[in-house]
Amino acid sequence: MKKIAVIGSGTMGNGIAHVFAQNGYPVSLIDVSGDALRKATETIAKNLDRQVNKGTITEEDKHNTFRRITTYTKIDEGVQEVDLVVEAASENPDIKLKIFSQLDALTKPEAILATNTSSISITRIAAATKRQAQVIGMHFMNPVPVMKLVEVIRGYATTDEVTKTVMALALTLQKTPVEVNDYPGFISNRILLPMLNEAIFALHEGVAGVEEIDAVMKLGMAHPMGPLQLADFIGLDVCKSILDVMYEGFGNPKYAPCALLVNMVLAGHLGMKTGKGFYQYQGREMTVAARFK
Ligand code: CAA
Repeated sequence: MKKIAVIGSGTMGNGIAHVFAQNGYPVSLIDVSGDALRKATETIAKNLDRQVNKGTITEEDKHNTFRRITTYTKIDEGVQEVDLVVEAASENPDIKLKIFSQLDALTKPEAILATNTSSISITRIAAATKRQAQVIGMHFMNPVPVMKLVEVIRGYATTDEVTKTVMALALTLQKTPVEVNDYPGFISNRILLPMLNEAIFALHEGVAGVEEIDAVMKLGMAHPMGPLQLADFIGLDVCKSILDVMYEGFGNPKYAPCALLVNMVLAGHLGMKTGKGFYQYQGREMTVAARFK
């Protein structure tokens, strides 16, 4: 693996580009929006500064990491001669299927096409290409520069060789890869999302308040964030769409999103990114949202 392209420059895309570049790979960061790319490079610079201030990297490492990232607004220009593409565009099946069929036509035949999807079937995405054996899930966790896991998801037709290559690649990023098979929610979200949903049910039923639910899980189970704060951090729309995929995929009502979550998404209270969710966010300040006080 010599050259990498990352598609999508949002939270996950810029984190993935950051980590590849920091570990020596030249990266093409691709997004249709020039504005999004500008914001992404600012975020990467800020996160690299944070690492320099902590003493985990030097100014020179920061400079070299930055130098390895080139931004593109045109997919055909950004994916030329790349060995691996990691797609981290919107979590929308139509968008992903279209991107994969384009990538299939634009990249060299031996390139591996990976997706950072948090819930869409890898097998379904692979079927949009003529190289299903070389399509795989590389599921990074947010914040990407910090979290150690890469969940490597084998689609129905992904070969052993491609899986081994991607597992080995994740190690070069100083991450720990874990191999799982392609079923709704994979492992990470199959276990995480029912817990977050259950916390929302508990709030909805009045078992305890927002801070109390989060305190129980932080102080009693040593979770770094309580489940309601984590749901806000992930995005309530993303949480709902992952639950929908599992509900439809398994046909089991235990995965149905809580009606409170559905309402919050309909109202556009999506968590940190909109400034309102279970908490409200102003600058660095986080307080329980007025509705839940
Ligand atoms: N880039 C680089 N470094 C970062 C960073 C970023 N974006 N964000 C945080 N950091 C670093 C900080 O510099 C700090 O470093 P040190 O330990 O060396 O001091 C460290 O991370 C901790 O950060 P903070 O002190 O600012 O804050 P914190 O202690 O509250 O930790 C957190 C923040 C790492 C986000 C922590 O709260 C946490 O681990 N939360 C849970 C995150 C989680 O569960 N992520 C998975 C979400 S699910 C998902 O992503 C997949 C999906 O499909 C839905």
